[in-house]
Amino acid sequence: MATRHSAWFLAGLAGLLALALASRAVAAATPGDAAGRETAAEAQTPEKEAPIAKTLKKKEPKENLQETKDPSHLLVVGPYLQHSTQSTQVICWETTQPANSVVEWDEQLPLNHKTEAKGAATFHEIELRGLKTETAYFYRVWSRTGSGRAFVSGVYTFQTAVRKESPFAFVVFGDTRSFPDNFARIADAAYAERPNFVLHTGDVVTKGPEKDQWVNEFLAPAANLARRVPLYVAIGNHEKNDAWYYKYVSYPSPESYYSFDYGDAHFAILDSNEKDLGPQSAQYQWLEKDLAKSKALWKFTAHHHPPFDSDSDDYGDTDREKSTQGDLNVRAFVPLYEEYDVDICWVGHIHTYERTWPIREGKVDQDSGVIYIQTGGGGAPLEQFAPTRSWFTAKVLRNYEYCYVTIAGETLRMMAYDIDGRLVDFLELRK
Ligand SMILES: [Fe+2]
Ligand SMILES: [Fe+2]
Repeated sequence: MATRHSAWFLAGLAGLLALALASRAVAAATPGDAAGRETAAEAQTPEKEAPIAKTLKKKEPKENLQETKDPSHLLVVGPYLQHSTQSTQVICWETTQPANSVVEWDEQLPLNHKTEAKGAATFHEIELRGLKTETAYFYRVWSRTGSGRAFVSGVYTFQTAVRKESPFAFVVFGDTRSFPDNFARIADAAYAERPNFVLHTGDVVTKGPEKDQWVNEFLAPAANLARRVPLYVAIGNHEKNDAWYYKYVSYPSPESYYSFDYGDAHFAILDSNEKDLGPQSAQYQWLEKDLAKSKALWKFTAHHHPPFDSDSDDYGDTDREKSTQGDLNVRAFVPLYEEYDVDICWVGHIHTYERTWPIREGKVDQDSGVIYIQTGGGGAPLEQFAPTRSWFTAKVLRNYEYCYVTIAGETLRMMAYDIDGRLVDFLELRK
C-alpha cells in the first residue's frame, strides 16, 4: 500500500504543452429484452423526427449520408453502443413504431452474420455474442414494421474489449445536459481521440422524466461518438432515477451501479444519489465485495457527486460561511477506496474541472492516496469556485472540458483538454 505509486510526475502546464503537441451466428439476440421493453408510455410518445434528423444530419460523416436517410421517419435515435466485453457487444436504437430488430455484422464487408430479436419493439437492444477479443467489427442495424415501413442504418464499427496486457484509452466527461451544442463539441472531441470507451459522470439530461431529452440532449448530440464507442454512464441527480434511464442504457445489473473490467483495469460505477451509502447499505456492501475480489492492476470508481470539491455555493455559501468541501453522503465510500487502493475516483455534478492531490485519511498522501477528478464541464451551465483554495486542490479549471486517459501496463497518463482543444491539465502515474 505504502508504495502503490512508485513515482509521481505532476507537472505544470507550460512544460507539458510541448509533450501534448508532439503526441497529438454464434451470436444470440436477447429477444426478451427487445420485445419486452415496449410500454404504454412509449406508445403515447409523440414523434420528434424533425429536430433529431437536423442534429444527425449536421454531424453525419459524409460517407454515411445516403444510407442513414430515413424517409419513413421510423428512426428516433441510434444505433449506439453500450456494454462491451472481450466477446460481446450491446447495440441499441429506438424507432417511432414497433418494428423488428436486426443487426448485421462481420469482420469485413459484406456483413455475413445476422442477429435478430423476436417480436416487435420500439426500443431495440441486441447483444452480439461469441466475438473475438480486441477485434474490430463492422455492423449495421435495421427495423421493419408490420406495414412495411423500414429503417436501415449506415455501416459503422465497434471493437471488442482489449486483452488484459494491451494498452487502451478512455475519455471521461460529465454534466452534458442542457446545452446540446456544447455537448456535441465535447463528444466530437472525445471521438477524435479514438478511445476504447467513454465514461460519463452523470447528468445526461436536464429532467429525467422528459423522454425527449434522452434523445435531444443526450444521444443525438453524441451520435458520431456513440455509434462507434461504448458509453458508460454513472447516473446523476438530474436523471431522477427515471425509468427512461433504464430504457436507454444497457449495463450489468442493476444498471444504477455496476462494474466491468477493461484491459488490466477495474471500473466500479456507482449511484451516489442514494440517500444512505454507509456500511449498512446494499450498495456499500456490493462495492466492498466488488473491490475486494478485483485483481486488476488499476482500479477506478466513478459516480456523480464529488467527495472533495471546491465549489463556491453547493456545499456552503463560501462568501459567507464555511463549506463542507464536498458531498458528505458519498464520502462514506472513501474508506473503501483507501482500503482497496483505488487509483482515481471520477466524479461530476459540479460543472467545473478539479483534480485533487492523492488523499488518504483526510490528508494529502503522495504514496498511497486516492485521486479525485471532477470533470463536470461537459456542456451544462458552468459553476464557480470558492474564493480560497482547498487543502486538497491540485488543479481547478472553470471551462468546458474532458479527460483523456491512456494506460499501457504500469503507466497511466491523463490529459484534460478544454472545449477548444487546449491542454489544461496533465497527470502521470506509475505503479
Ligand atoms: Fe450537473
Ligand atoms: Fe448533478
